[in-house]
Amino acid sequence: MTFTSLLFDVHDRVATITVNRPDKLNALDDATMGELDEAIDVVERRDDIGGVIVTGAGSKAFVAGADIQELSAQGPLDGRARARRGQAVLLRFERSRKPVIAAVNGFALGGGCELALACHIRIASANAKFGLPEVKLGIGPGYGGTQRLPRLIGAGRALQLILTGEMIDAEEAHRIGMVNRVVPRDALLAESDALLRRILANGPLAVALCIEAVQRGVGVTLEEGLSIEANHFGLLASTEDMREGMRAFLEKRAPRFSGR
Ligand code: COA
Repeated sequence: MTFTSLLFDVHDRVATITVNRPDKLNALDDATMGELDEAIDVVERRDDIGGVIVTGAGSKAFVAGADIQELSAQGPLDGRARARRGQAVLLRFERSRKPVIAAVNGFALGGGCELALACHIRIASANAKFGLPEVKLGIGPGYGGTQRLPRLIGAGRALQLILTGEMIDAEEAHRIGMVNRVVPRDALLAESDALLRRILANGPLAVALCIEAVQRGVGVTLEEGLSIEANHFGLLASTEDMREGMRAFLEKRAPRFSGR
């Protein structure tokens, strides 16, 4: 698999997807969105990949938004179609059964902020900046920002960011719950990798179903969510991983999960 605007690297079960247009601050043009779609497809299909880190090339930007050059030419119908395509791609990251960590290494603006929001966990470097500046361009977020941000940090805080279009720094993003952790720039990838590996040490079927329960649960009633959880709890009781996990505990050793 070769990409033009992405770097795709797999090392010991961890895939790293790097958006690689540093001269454009890794802005997401349509071609790059298409490649992100292919990349998450590869992650889902390959059994030798357990989880993924998403980051940006260079020291300045994670992703500085959708490509404004392309957006500037759009009319109502292709604008809507672009939003639907982008939303579908980011939905695949969010719904991935393998854990996805955003390692935010600089500007995460517009579509870049939305890409980070679609990841399961966000780690930010100290120089990261977050924002949804679309209103400054006379548009609104189109890749899920108006929906995922209020779910994550609450409607009032989300509206402040969306309506002012102003950026916040990594510490403020951490304070309001937009990112899980802030780490020094040179430790970002190592810390993200270490966190992902702590997750990958756990039962992969359990991890996949926990992701699914949380993602589906936020969109349904509490009763429906509890039902999803109970079904997963029962389903996992049929797995070899459950037997191995409990046997290992009782035998006071580390489990060796097989994903079956
Ligand atoms: N789309 C297309 N090109 C972009 C871009 C985007 N979203 N963000 C940055 N670029 C390009 C710039 O046009 C410039 O290209 P050039 O060298 O060919 O002129 C290059 O990336 C470097 O950006 P520049 O603006 O010169 O860097 P800066 O350090 O002065 O400012 C930002 C950095 C992030 C504050 C600024 O680039 C910016 O505001 N970007 C747009 C953010 C945005 O509105 N995103 C939402 C889009 S919906």
